[in-house]
Order: sequence, then C-alpha cells, then structure tokens
Amino acid sequence: MTETNVAQLFQSKFGKDFFIFRAPGRINLIGEHTDYNLGYVLPAAINKYIYLAIHPNETGTFHIQAADFKEDVSFDTSFRKDALPAWARYPAGVIRELSNQGYLLKGFNAVFGGDIPTGAGLSSSAALESVFALALNYMNNLKLARIEIARAGQQAEHHTVGVKCGIMDQFASVFGKTNQLIRLDCRDLDYTYFPFKSRDHTLILVNTGVSHALAESAYNERREQCEEGVRVLAERFPGVRSLRDVSKEMLRVAEKDLEPVVLKRCEFVAEENERVIRTCKALERGDMVKIGEFMWDSHQGLRHKYEVSCRELDLLVETAKTISGVTGARMMGGGFGGCTINLLETRQVNLFKEVTSEKFNKQFQSHPEYYEVTIADGATPQ
Ligand code: GLA
Repeated sequence: MTETNVAQLFQSKFGKDFFIFRAPGRINLIGEHTDYNLGYVLPAAINKYIYLAIHPNETGTFHIQAADFKEDVSFDTSFRKDALPAWARYPAGVIRELSNQGYLLKGFNAVFGGDIPTGAGLSSSAALESVFALALNYMNNLKLARIEIARAGQQAEHHTVGVKCGIMDQFASVFGKTNQLIRLDCRDLDYTYFPFKSRDHTLILVNTGVSHALAESAYNERREQCEEGVRVLAERFPGVRSLRDVSKEMLRVAEKDLEPVVLKRCEFVAEENERVIRTCKALERGDMVKIGEFMWDSHQGLRHKYEVSCRELDLLVETAKTISGVTGARMMGGGFGGCTINLLETRQVNLFKEVTSEKFNKQFQSHPEYYEVTIADGATPQ
C-alpha cells in the first residue's frame, strides 16, 4: 500500500480534509536483546513505511481503518483490548498511554497502510505506534518531545499489547536519519549517528517467512531470565542495576551463583554489548571485514547462548557464510523467525540471492523474500 493509496482510501471514506504522516520500519546492524538490558544497540530507519491519513471527527470516537487488512474498528478511551483485533491494539495502546498521562485527545477518522512486511522483524508495529503518536501529538497540540513519542509506543507494547520490549524499535522509527546508523545507549538514551554508506557494500535482508507464535512469550521469558541474573549478580556486586553493568570477568567470578541457563543469557548480553562498541570503532575505520566478524559472532551467540534463532535463520546464515563476498550475516530482531541481515559486496548480490534461495527452497520448500533496503529518515512530519 502506498501513501497515495492510503490518501485515496481516506478521501473516499471520510472526505477531502486530512493530514498525512509516515513512520519507517528499522534494521539493526548489531546489538540484539541489549536494549531492555540498558545496553547498546545500532539500528537505523529504513525506506519502508506505515502511512497514516487522519483527521479529527468532532466526536470522542477513534475510527481506524487498516487498509492492508481490510478491517476497521471504532472505540473510545474505555476500550477493552480483548475486543480489538491484534493490529488495533497498537494505536489503541498509544491512545491509552497518552490519555493516562492526562492528555485530552480528540476523536478521529483514520486510514493506515504501508509496505513494511508484518512478522518479518522489521518493526512494523513500532512504526504503527510512532505514526499514531506523531499524529496525536500534532492534532492535539501536545508538544511532546521526540523521545516521548517513542516512549508512548514502547509503553503501548508493555501495557496493551503485552510485550515487554525495549526502546530500540520506536527510537529508530522516530530518530532515524538518511544513511546513518544510530548508536543508542539505552541506559541514558544518549545517541550518536554513524555514517553508513558504501559503494562496494550492500545490506540485504532475507525474510524466512516464519513467525513463531511463541515468540512473544519467549521474549518476555528472556527478559525475566536477565532480570534474574541481575538480582543474583547484585548480591555479589552491589553496583549492578542491569546487565549493562556486568562484564564477562564479573560473570566468571559469579558463575557458580547463577543457573546455567541464566549464565548463558548474561554472557550473551555482556558480549553483545561489547560487540556494538567494537563495531562502531570498526565503522569509524571503514573496516567492513571486522564488522562482518562481529555479525557472525552475534549470530552464534543468539543461536547458542540466547537461544532465539530457528532452523530457517540458521540455514540462511550458514549458507551466507559459504558465499564469497559476504562479509557478515546474522538473524535480526527478536528472533524465532523474521529476517537475517547480510552485509555483502555489491557485486555478489545476484549470486547471494541465487545460492541462498536454492538452499532454502531445498530444505524448506519455499523461497525467501529479499529486501535491499536503504537507510532513511525517521517519522515525519515531526
Ligand atoms: C524486538 C524488541 C526490541 C529488541 C529486539 C531484540 O524487536 O521490540 O525492543 O529487544 O526485539 O534486540
């Protein structure tokens, strides 16, 4: 669905006056499952969007049509989330967060749609939250800072959707910048842009087409295991507030105190945080080979220590490793399906697609989808 499609649908349903907003999906070069551990991430917004056409309707009702799902809902601030289809919980959650903060929100008519594949780990849900938060901010003159817009989305996930996610996805969707990766410190929300544009290298996403139903509960379980690690480690090291404060050396000292599975999770997070920092140094030197190595290592950690990969992702990464000119590959996002992110020499793109597609099809009797994304600006207009 394009921006024009969304605008036309709005016009035919609700009339000619409307505002248009858009918010992008995201990639993450490295730094997975570190955000809710208050560590570092390195995401970027991409040129795939959710578009929203919206206008106040002079009532207290929120009327939303999901163009891609061909469904619409009406509700007010007293909605019950179980009465809403899954997609509507994201905008409804944002409305609830902002009303709970004391903002009076006007009712509206809205149509949204876009081109971010759902369930692919590209954060279509964060884009949906961001685009509604942006629109509500504008139409109600709330004067929210950009970080409050991102936070409203994250809180909607926690309280209405039921996923205890970190801030990475919403942050990237709101703060993205063309050709820049964002190194975000999830503890104090300090961020630095790192230019990422290479003539010789390309980033390609490969979509397994798999999205496991258990992903949400497994995600929350990982988070609890990390919290358990923090509780135990804080007894030995009183300064520890999150896994961000934990080094591999500390884990060696305390390894006997921790359940083996919790130890593995903590090790992964400590190592992954270090990898983000080192990737940024490699970016400054333009050292693609080193960046690639960190990506492979990240995948191994996600697979064996954090245990959030799956056969389809592993096959794609293993196959990528055999192709000359592929600098690095790993699963991206929460895991259990979705996409891999691949850094490769541009001249090898066709070969890469051929080989991975054939292998994947042989094993799983389907062809994966490929997205050659570019790094784009965050949600607009802000
Ligand atoms: C999902 C969550 C993010 C982050 C990633 C894993 O995308 O929404 O907050 O935790 O998983 O890095």
